[in-house]
Amino acid sequence: MKRYEDKNWRDSMRIRVNLNNMMRENIGDNGLCRSEIDALPLTKSVEGMKLKRGAMKWRELPYNQDEVLTKIEACAEHIRNEFESFVVLGIGGSALGPIAVHQALCHPRYNELSREKRNAPKLYVEDNVDPERMAALLDVIDVKKTMFNVITKSGGTSETMSQLLIISDILHRELGDDISTHLIATTDKEKGNLVKIAEREKLLTFIVPDGVGGRFSELCPVGLLAAAVCGIDIRELLAGAAYMDELCSNDEVWSNPAYILASMQVAAMKRGCNIHVMMPYADSLKYISDWYAQLWAESLGKRYDNEGAEIYAGQTPVKALGVTDQHSQVQLYTEGPFDKVITFIGVDSYRKETPIPDGYLDIKDVSFLCGHTQNELIKAEQAATEYAVMKSGHLSNTVTLPEVNAFTIGQLLYMFEVMTAFAGELLNLNAFDQPGVEEGKNATYALLRKPGFDKKREELESAPKAKGEYIV
Ligand code: PA5
Repeated sequence: MKRYEDKNWRDSMRIRVNLNNMMRENIGDNGLCRSEIDALPLTKSVEGMKLKRGAMKWRELPYNQDEVLTKIEACAEHIRNEFESFVVLGIGGSALGPIAVHQALCHPRYNELSREKRNAPKLYVEDNVDPERMAALLDVIDVKKTMFNVITKSGGTSETMSQLLIISDILHRELGDDISTHLIATTDKEKGNLVKIAEREKLLTFIVPDGVGGRFSELCPVGLLAAAVCGIDIRELLAGAAYMDELCSNDEVWSNPAYILASMQVAAMKRGCNIHVMMPYADSLKYISDWYAQLWAESLGKRYDNEGAEIYAGQTPVKALGVTDQHSQVQLYTEGPFDKVITFIGVDSYRKETPIPDGYLDIKDVSFLCGHTQNELIKAEQAATEYAVMKSGHLSNTVTLPEVNAFTIGQLLYMFEVMTAFAGELLNLNAFDQPGVEEGKNATYALLRKPGFDKKREELESAPKAKGEYIV
């Protein structure tokens, strides 16, 4: 029996959300009142979530992937046995999830471990078109011993296509006509150019299901293949998401972790808190903040509401890491403007314990640490920072994972996804599109003379010219 099949174990791994330091009774006048939350369109938003559940296909991913999971596991096993490196080519939602889950659940120095200790290929997720980075990747991998996974839901993202062109050219030169042994595609079932390329090259192809947008796609083949290649139990990850789905199916907002988190964020936004800081106290969760930043920013940063009225909504996500950023940003969080909410993410039980040994016993300002562990130190620093932020009257909340494992990470991702969707309902906007990204994409096409973008090029040419007086 798998541990996640045991209800007691599952319950012992339930993540907790502590919202006390959002409330007036804890932090004083700047805190929220219950009435502010209750004044939000809660009933309408709960109904909206129920009505749209069918369209939010990402909500079914914990339940409807049996067939594809078997295919992913078999493919991952082959890659684990045959290849030295696994390279993901993708950007945005096609990259941030794989990076976050890998960092959370694999060894912190995964690629530097020996092959025996890693027992899996090295992982590289290439989510930029910086020419130096591509050159550097090619310096460290042997393409003949590398499996590439090109991921693009739309099948047309220029950054990903440029990477594919570079890699397929190298593979053709190294391997000849058949590059299907070294390249896997993950994309929409029929839309976009990657489907055509995959057919032409006879590539093994995984499908990004309909209704699963990029930033909601980590729990489908987009993220699951890389995770399985690295030895992560993807069924446990999905079991965690299913467990959270149950908690998030509660219509009572104050008892639903995703709904109440979203409601408090929206209430804070209405007070002018336009910044959301995500500050995990664990290196393993550092890239969860990156993944979350895209989810929150791209979903809620919207000019128009569902009726077409201009609202310029959104809350800027900021990534911070405990304790590192205590020495960089916490001064601002305690004494700066009341324009932010800080979410601390803590861990009850770290996967390692590092004792702090005796030494320099005559120097009291150092030796008080002796006999403690780094585990105690990081927790004390988290508690102390939470206290300092609370005392300063700034809004914060804390999400706690009993430990970092596939089950708790599945819960965390799913909770933030539902939270984002519910915030979209409260704000009466479409959380699932990204029209603001199109302008930059189209301008890039125009600059690179993509057919059909002549008008955009003319528009760019008539844009205000840079004046010398403002260039120093
Ligand atoms: O959330 C989204 O949909 C976007 O951020 C995409 O993930 C990103 O633009 C990459 O798109 P694609 O997977 O189509 O290449």
